[in-house]
Order: sequence, then C-alpha cells, then structure tokens
Amino acid sequence: MKEITIALPKGKLFKPSAELLSKIGWTADGLSEKSRKLVIANDELKLKFIITKTADVPTYVEYGAADIGIIGKDVIVESGKDVYELLDLGFGRCHLMMAVPKDRRRPTLDDYANTRVVTKFPRIAEEFFARRGMQMEYIKLHGSIELGPLIGLSESIVDIVETGTTLRENNLEEIVSIMDSTARLIVNRVSFKLKFDRISPMVERLKEVLSNEAD
Ligand code: PRP
Repeated sequence: MKEITIALPKGKLFKPSAELLSKIGWTADGLSEKSRKLVIANDELKLKFIITKTADVPTYVEYGAADIGIIGKDVIVESGKDVYELLDLGFGRCHLMMAVPKDRRRPTLDDYANTRVVTKFPRIAEEFFARRGMQMEYIKLHGSIELGPLIGLSESIVDIVETGTTLRENNLEEIVSIMDSTARLIVNRVSFKLKFDRISPMVERLKEVLSNEAD
C-alpha cells in the first residue's frame, strides 16, 4: 500500500477537515491543531498528516510534499499554484470583498481608484481592480486586515467575510463582493496518477459522506 501524505491547514478549517476525514476512517492518534508535533502518522493505514499554515497548503501539494490537501478556494486562487481540485467540501463558506469605513464611504467604487488597499489577497485584488480599469496600491498584511483603514494605512481592505462580525465591530462596510469560497480537496497532479488506487476510493467515500450530510 502506498503512503499518502495529507496537508491540513491550521485555523478555522482544521476542525471540520479533520472531522470529515475521520468519517472515512482517515485519522491518526494525536491529530490535533494544538499538537506541537508537525507530522502525525497512522502507520497501520499508511497515512501521514502534516499541519501547516493556511497559505502554505497549496505549496506543499504543488511540490508533492503532500499528496492531498484541504484548503479554501480563495487561498488556492491567491497562491496561483498548479494543483488539481477534486471536490468542493462545502464547509468554510465565506466571501472575499472590499470594505471601507462606514463614515468615509465614497459615492462609487471608481472613487477609490489610485488609493491604498490592505489585503492578504493582493493577486485576486489586483485582478479584480485591473478588470475594472482601476489602478490601486496594494499593501500586503498577514492578519488583522481590518486595522488598515482604521489607523490610516489605507482607504480600504480586501478581505474575507464569514459572519460579518469583524466588519461590524470595526465600523466597516462591504462595498463590493469579489469571490465566493468554500473548502476544497486538492491533490498533487502526479500523486493523483501514481496513487490513484488509494486516492480515487477515498474521494468516492468522501462524496458519499457529503451527499448523506446534504440529505
Ligand atoms: C478572517 C478574516 C476576517 C475574519 C472574518 O480572519 O480575515 O478578519 O476572519 O470573519 P467574520 O466575518 O466571521 O468576522 P482570521 O480569523 O482568519 O484571522 P486574521 O486576522 O489572522 O486574518
């Protein structure tokens, strides 16, 4: 039996990802986000789990360091990595949008041309604004994006909204939606061919679990 390495992201997607995989028996003793151990193995099933920073999952999978990964569509697109997307897992639903301070909202989107935008997603943001013929200045931050306009670093943000709580609590208002996202199962292209006998049945079982949950 060929060994399979699975990359799981830290953060909000970890728990639903580990829970979903455990429903098809793909789990390992000590598989926890809090574990300081970075590689957790299930020798019996020849599975190896690695827990990585969210943004790094597509990189591990593109290079084949992980055969399989679970990660948000937003992160896949932003990474620009060449990975094969096998399944929409349905959880981790959120959307990427542009937001501005409520009390300083300008009349139209075009009024923000040539201003600064703080984001973790400069690639998606740039593509979005370029399509509208808007040139912007992008400032990449790695977290707490909402701080940007509050302390005068930028006029706006491009960030993820899930419940809307963070926007509300910081008096920001969404002005345009950019893309929807959910968690996806991704696979390394070569692994998919070489380990098809393990990956294909796994995908079929996941599909079953997901369709039973949807009923
Ligand atoms: C994400 C995102 C927003 C927040 C949105 O941040 O960047 O800040 O969640 O969620 P909400 O609409 O439910 O409030 P995350 O918690 O991943 O942390 P970060 O500050 O490190 O980006």
